[in-house]
Amino acid sequence: MTNEKLGIDFMKKILIHSYKGGTGKTTVAVNLASILSQNTKVLLIENDFSMPSFVNIFKHEPNAFFNDFCTGSATFSEIIQSNLKPSLDIIFADTQFNPSAEIMGSNQAWFLKLLEKMMENLKACEEIYEYVIFDTPPGWQLILVNLIALANVAILLLRPNSYEVMGTKRLIEILYKRAKPSMNFDVNLLFNQVPEVDMIKDLEGWAEELQIEGISYLGHISCSCQTAYEMAHETTIFPLEHEFSQSLQQVISNLKI
Ligand SMILES: Nc1ncnc2c1ncn2[C@@H]1O[C@H](COP(=O)(O)OP(=O)(O)O)[C@@H](O)[C@H]1O
Ligand SMILES: [Mg+2]
Repeated sequence: MTNEKLGIDFMKKILIHSYKGGTGKTTVAVNLASILSQNTKVLLIENDFSMPSFVNIFKHEPNAFFNDFCTGSATFSEIIQSNLKPSLDIIFADTQFNPSAEIMGSNQAWFLKLLEKMMENLKACEEIYEYVIFDTPPGWQLILVNLIALANVAILLLRPNSYEVMGTKRLIEILYKRAKPSMNFDVNLLFNQVPEVDMIKDLEGWAEELQIEGISYLGHISCSCQTAYEMAHETTIFPLEHEFSQSLQQVISNLKI
């Protein structure tokens, strides 16, 4: 990735977020990381303290978690798991209740200190990774303020129903519009779990409603019974030729990365 202005390489930080839970953030984050890591080095970070899934998805229990870095009991390099997938390094969130509750109960000043620490450590990663992908909790938890400050690109997922559209609109108003009004930050909408009937007009109508202040519309991924069935049988990372990966590749070809 080349910054045209400066003529130097830089790392892209991609935030996967949504107003509600269950929209497919984790599924998109891990598959996007897997697709991008075919050609380049990627760091995937689980920031969802309330509903961590990576331990189950990657079938791995690390010695140190993102929580330990946040609370100061581990360094950034100690929490990076680098032997699980080729070209894909992963940071896990802790699945225990107490470490997560402690972080979620912290105040804004604490998160601001954490932001400084994250900035410093991600800066040191610029030589190593081309992409960092953040899997996030839904809604407006304080960690999102940090991640929005760090990210270059956001993908906002939503399912096709009017209350998620209204919720996403509020999320954009509350978090995104204020976040980086003057800086280079691309926010993109992606509908997921769209019924396989003709909904193009509905999706375009909603996307238009949400395309306020430079928000782009990436497209949609269909709701697939096959995908849901395979996920029920513990497959979360799909091969490149799988329909979910194919749709995701199609959609991310519209991303400015
Ligand atoms: N395109 C899709 N088709 C069918 N099921 C999907 C699709 N995308 C996600 N899912 C299902 O939705 C559920 C929630 O996905 P997940 O990625 O855990 O959401 P989140 O991280 O936003 O809470 C999972 O059971 C997953 O199998
Ligand atoms: Mg999730």
